[in-house]
Parts: sequence; C-alpha cells; structure tokens
Amino acid sequence: MRRSVDEITGGKRLRRMRKADWSRRLVAENDLTVNDLIWPIFLIEGENRTEQIAAMPGVERLTVDLAVRAAEEAAKLGIPAVATFPNIPIEKRDTTGSNAIEDDNLINRATRAIKAAVPEIGIITDAALDPFTDHGHDGVLRDGIIVNDESVEQIVRAAVGQAAAGADIIAPSDMMDGRIGAIRDALDENGFQDVAIMSYATKYASAFYGPYREAIGTSGLLKGDKKTYYIDPANTEEALRETEADLQEGAEMVMVKPGMPYLDICRRVKETFQVPTFAYQVSGEYAMIEAAAANGWIDGERVMMESLLAFKRAGCDGILTYFAPRAAKILAG
Ligand code: PBG
Repeated sequence: MRRSVDEITGGKRLRRMRKADWSRRLVAENDLTVNDLIWPIFLIEGENRTEQIAAMPGVERLTVDLAVRAAEEAAKLGIPAVATFPNIPIEKRDTTGSNAIEDDNLINRATRAIKAAVPEIGIITDAALDPFTDHGHDGVLRDGIIVNDESVEQIVRAAVGQAAAGADIIAPSDMMDGRIGAIRDALDENGFQDVAIMSYATKYASAFYGPYREAIGTSGLLKGDKKTYYIDPANTEEALRETEADLQEGAEMVMVKPGMPYLDICRRVKETFQVPTFAYQVSGEYAMIEAAAANGWIDGERVMMESLLAFKRAGCDGILTYFAPRAAKILAG
C-alpha cells in the first residue's frame, strides 16, 4: 500500500508556514532594504540637461547640477551611496586616458558638487580609464597591449584625484594586477586613510556590459575585447584567487560583476572570505528586464524586486543597480 503524505514527511508539512502573508513574512530568511542599494549614475558635461540611453530605457545621463538633484533624491529615499560614471567628450579622450588624472574632470566636479550639496550620501568613484581613453579600454594601450604597470600608475593617480575631490570609496573596475595595493599605498601617503576601497575583484569578460558602453560612449571606440584583463566566464577558482589578492592588498569590500548570471560566485566569495560583498546588476541585466517588461512578457516590477532579493539570498551585502530609486520607492511603500 502507498504511504500517506504524513507518513512520508513524518507529519511535517512545509506548506503550513506558506499559508498566509503573515506566516511567510515570519519565516522569511532574507530581506531587501533600501540600505542594500547603490545607485550608479551617468554624467555628462553641460547644465540642466539629460540624455536618453537607448538600450537603458528609464536611465538618463545627467549634467552635474542634475546629478546633484539625483543624489538629493537618493538621500531622501535612504539610498546609502551613489556611484558615478562619466561620459567624457570625445576630444578629451586619448591613448593614456590623461583626463582621468585632471583634477577638474567631470567625475571630480560631480563629486565636489554632490559632496557640497548632499554630504550625507556616500560617493563611490571608478578609477578605471575606459571613459577617458580613445580606445575604450580600462588601461593604457601600447602596441595592441593593455600594459599593466603603466596603467596601474595612471589609475593610482586618478584614484588619488578622486579622493581629493571627496570620494568616499574608490572602486577600481579595471582588473589590472596590483592596482589595489598601489591605490591603498597612494591614498595613505596622500592623507586619505579614511577613503575605502571596493574592489571590482571578480569582473568577468562579459557581454552583459553592452548598454553601459553606449551610456559612457565607448561602444563605438572599443577595439577588440577585454579578455586579456577581465576573468573568463568559465572560471570560479580564478575569481577566488583574484578576490584573495585584492583583500590582501587592502580592499575593504569586494564586488562580483555581472550579477545575476554570477550568483554562484557571490555565494562562493561570501562564504570563503566573509567580507562585505557586493554585486553589480549590470546594464545588460537591466536592459533584459526592461525590454521584457516593455513587451508585457514579464511583470517588470516584480521581476526587479525578485532579482534584487536574489542577491541577498546569494550572500551579498548590497547591490549596485540602476533600479535603486525605483526599488527604494517600492520598499518605502
Ligand atoms: C569598465 C566598466 C564596465 C562597467 C562599468 N565600468 C564594463 C565595460 O565597459 O567593460 C559595466 C557596467 C554595466 O554594464 O552596467 N571599467
């Protein structure tokens, strides 16, 4: 005779705690709050002007004055930090990304303006060179090669300039070897002991960055790919070695990027190192959700919230996401 369900389960029935909203809330293991959100914003030159980004509907490039307004809005919503990414005018881009180390470049002007107007929000800046190079690579290009050590020198100078402008966290996304230790030394030597480092420790050579490259204007410029410095999507152990190196060199926090296709990496990094771990829900992830939602194929709002909760379940302490203000509004009820 077939056993009854109660005989099989020993009387335990997992559906009992799923029966009502109150009981589901009571046993929920993970929770998304506004404190988990970092909002990446795109910058352009000019005043009181926005630009649409075709592949990222709902995301705009902002002039510095409007980025300040955006930061004010984010702070009101309780979002802890913004991360700025500049779209540099083409005439200012060159082989070595020299505008990256200019004190009054777009990213540093935005930091100063946001710091002055919204001192309560954290500012995260990227020290990679790709917005500033005329070839779209994150480092210095010499004879077809992204040269590591010269790139690190340039990235270090960019990072110190960003700290001088008021950045709270330097987040280098370039994946050059040794850049975390070099940035840490330079920050300390220049009196920026309080500036933290969030390493893009496991950044994969991913096709999910496409819309971002449109946003900062590198898609038409990029020659070749970034496989010689980003991690192969096939690899996990290499990601752990990279994370270990960045932590030893002095990173306070680490990031996994892209996000949703790499939740396994988030989990492995968190369990292995037990340090503040972040995921970047990148532009292509945003674009996929928005495109499907615009077609009526998915419920965009629910998928957005579920995708963000998934990062918490995978062990992340927070998420860089273009959805940050929208998610914050929903979380505020
Ligand atoms: C490059 C950089 C990238 C992103 C942020 N900084 C990737 C790239 O262009 O190769 C991606 C962000 C996104 O896709 O949302 N340093």
